[in-house]
Amino acid sequence: MAYPTSQSLRDRLQAPVSSITAYDYPVARLCDEAGIQLILVGDSLGMMVAGMEDTTGVTLEHMIYHTEIVRRGVQSAVLVSDLPIDTYRTPEEAVTSAKRLMKAGADAVKLEGGFGQLEKVKALRDEGIAFCAHLGMLPQRVKEEGGYKKKGKEEVEADQLVSAAIALEEAGAFAMVLESMVASVATRITDAVSIPTLGIGAGSGCDGQIRVLHDVIGAYPWFVPPFAKVYGNVAEVIRKSVADYIEEIK
Ligand code: KIV
Repeated sequence: MAYPTSQSLRDRLQAPVSSITAYDYPVARLCDEAGIQLILVGDSLGMMVAGMEDTTGVTLEHMIYHTEIVRRGVQSAVLVSDLPIDTYRTPEEAVTSAKRLMKAGADAVKLEGGFGQLEKVKALRDEGIAFCAHLGMLPQRVKEEGGYKKKGKEEVEADQLVSAAIALEEAGAFAMVLESMVASVATRITDAVSIPTLGIGAGSGCDGQIRVLHDVIGAYPWFVPPFAKVYGNVAEVIRKSVADYIEEIK
């Protein structure tokens, strides 16, 4: 099966790159019609859609279902799907899992991590499957790391992040998410690689930004990350509309 090439996906991303998560058809369609350049079916759906504590309970079946329904709403944006935890433990497993997401409609897959993932991303590249890298704070490691910790504060760690970014580009990544990282380190990475960097909690020195949809539209009022800027109040619209409806039928 011929998949979109890394180069063709990269060519569709023009700085400043706008990207956002989406998990279902209507929202994906609205984001696409609004002109967003890249839509991520993120494993953040574990929290935002399924009410889980973190992303570690998300399965490949969840991601396949949400990729299928998002695909129906996306005409123009690049559609990337997350490989969830424990679905890319070996290069062979990464390829098998990624093929299922591509069959569900993804243009590319994303996986978290740096040097430890190089053999897996090379295996994806060899199969012609485009991939987006993800460096910095890695939500799938929240349990091992005992929480969400900003990365790149120490010089050694900052240097490792820059080297990993270069290695991931060399291995064929078409774009790279930089999550919760010291802004100057994200800027260093952006300068060091030629693929687009998409920051979230990583300052304004990236080629573009990526956001979790529910943060942007104000649809998940129970937790908003400190770096998130909320542009709407969908939670209030739902509360009020449903309250008005209940009132009217009384
Ligand atoms: O799953 C997700 O929503 C993500 C974004 C935070 C980039 O990976």
